[in-house]
Amino acid sequence: SQAMRDDVLDLIRELPPEIGLLLDKIKETADHLGIQAYLVGGFVRDLFLRKSSQDLDVVVEGDSNSFANQLIEVVEVHKVVQHHQFGTVKITFRDGTHLDIAGSRWEEYDFPGALPTIEESNLKEDLFRRDFTVNAMALCLNANRFGEVVDFYGGLRDLQQGEIRFLHNLSFIEDPTRMIRAVRFACRYHFKIAKVTREAINTALQANVLLKISKERFTEELMLILPEQAYQKMVRELAAFGLMKNWFGREFAWNLAESEEEVKDWDLEKKWLGLLISLENDEIRAVLDRLAFTKSMLKHTLDYVAVRSKLRAAGDCPQEGYAALFGVKEGIVDLLKKHEDLRPLIESYQQALQNLKMTIRGSDLLAAGIPEGPEIGRILQDIHLAWLTGKISDFEEERNYLLQILKRNSEGSTK
Ligand code: CTP
Repeated sequence: SQAMRDDVLDLIRELPPEIGLLLDKIKETADHLGIQAYLVGGFVRDLFLRKSSQDLDVVVEGDSNSFANQLIEVVEVHKVVQHHQFGTVKITFRDGTHLDIAGSRWEEYDFPGALPTIEESNLKEDLFRRDFTVNAMALCLNANRFGEVVDFYGGLRDLQQGEIRFLHNLSFIEDPTRMIRAVRFACRYHFKIAKVTREAINTALQANVLLKISKERFTEELMLILPEQAYQKMVRELAAFGLMKNWFGREFAWNLAESEEEVKDWDLEKKWLGLLISLENDEIRAVLDRLAFTKSMLKHTLDYVAVRSKLRAAGDCPQEGYAALFGVKEGIVDLLKKHEDLRPLIESYQQALQNLKMTIRGSDLLAAGIPEGPEIGRILQDIHLAWLTGKISDFEEERNYLLQILKRNSEGSTK
C-alpha cells in the first residue's frame, strides 16, 4: 500500500547518508539497465527494526557482473570481488559498508500460478530458499516502485509478533546451521522461535542432522555468536535445544555468573574461553578437534589449557604458578580465577605484583648501553619475573641480577 511505502521511505531517509546515496545509485543503475533490483534479507529486516546495518544484499535480474560493472562507474568503491561459482559480486566501501550483489536468471524459471509477472514469481522462488520469514522480505529499488515491500511469507507480521519462523518443513534438513541461526536471531532481537519452527528443530535433531554440519560451518556459526551482546543467552538456548553436545561432548553447563552487561566488553577470546570453564583439559582438546579454528584462536585456547595445567601442578610452590601467570593477559587471569581451586594462588600472584619493588627502568638499561629495541623489553620482563618468583628480594640482588644479564649479553655479542 501507499501508506506502507511512505513509512518505508521515511525509514530509508533515516539511514546514514552514505547508505541512502548508495541505494540511489543502485536505483539509477537498475533503471539505466532496464532491470529490476531488490534489497533483500537482513538489511530489510533491520531497517524495519530501526537497527542500522552496513551489510546490504541486493538481488538483480540477470547477471550480477554486468550490474556491478555499471554500478562501480558511478560509486567510489574500495574493493570488488567476483565469486564466479555463486554468480555473486561483493563490493566493499571505504566506510566499511558491504554490498553483495546476486544475479538471478529469473527468465529461466517457469513458475505457473496467479502471480502478476514471471519476474515476480522468480523473486518469490528466490526468497523461498532463505531461512526465516523475517529474512525473506524484499524492497524494490527501481524508481517507479522505490520502497515497495515484497513480503510473500508474512515477514512483517512475524517482525511485529516477534517470532522467528521457518519458510518450509525441510528448512533445517536442507541446512542444519539454520537451527543455530534461529537461536541467534531469537536471542538477539528478544524474539520467540515459533512453535512449528521449534518442533521442526526438534524433529531435525532427532534425525541427527547435526552430524551433517561440517567443522568449518559450525565454527563459522560459533564465531558469529561470540561478538553478540546476548551471547551467553544464545549459548544457554543452544544447550537447551541440545545443540551444543555435539561439539562440547556433554551437556553444556554455564558457569559464569556475570550479567550480559558485564560480559559486553569482553573480547572474543575471553568470551570463548569463558565457555570452557566447566570442561577439563582433555575435553577442551576434544572440542578443538571438532572445530576449525584459526591459528590464533587455537593458540589462545591451548595457552589457556597450558596455564591451567601449570597452575594446578604448582601446588605448594607459588613461584612456579607465578611464572606460569606472568605475561598472561589480565582478562584471562580473571577467568582463571573463577576456578575455586586456583583462586588463592592467583590472588597471591596479584598481591605480589602490587607489592613488587622493582626499581630498574628502561632508561637505566639505555644508560647501561643496551640499544633501543625489543631487547630492553625482554630484560625488563626477566627482572620483573625474577622479583616475582623470589630470585630477587632486594635492590642489591636486583643490581647483581642485571649485571649478570649484561655480562651474558656482552659475552653473547662478542662470540
Ligand atoms: N541465509 C539463509 N540460510 C543460511 C544463511 C543465510 O537462508 N544458512 C539467507 C538469509 O535470508 C539471510 C541472508 O541469507 O538474511 C544473508 O545471510 P547473512 O548475511 O548470514 O544473514 P543476515 O540476516 O544479514 O544476518 P546478520 O544480521 O547476522 O548479518
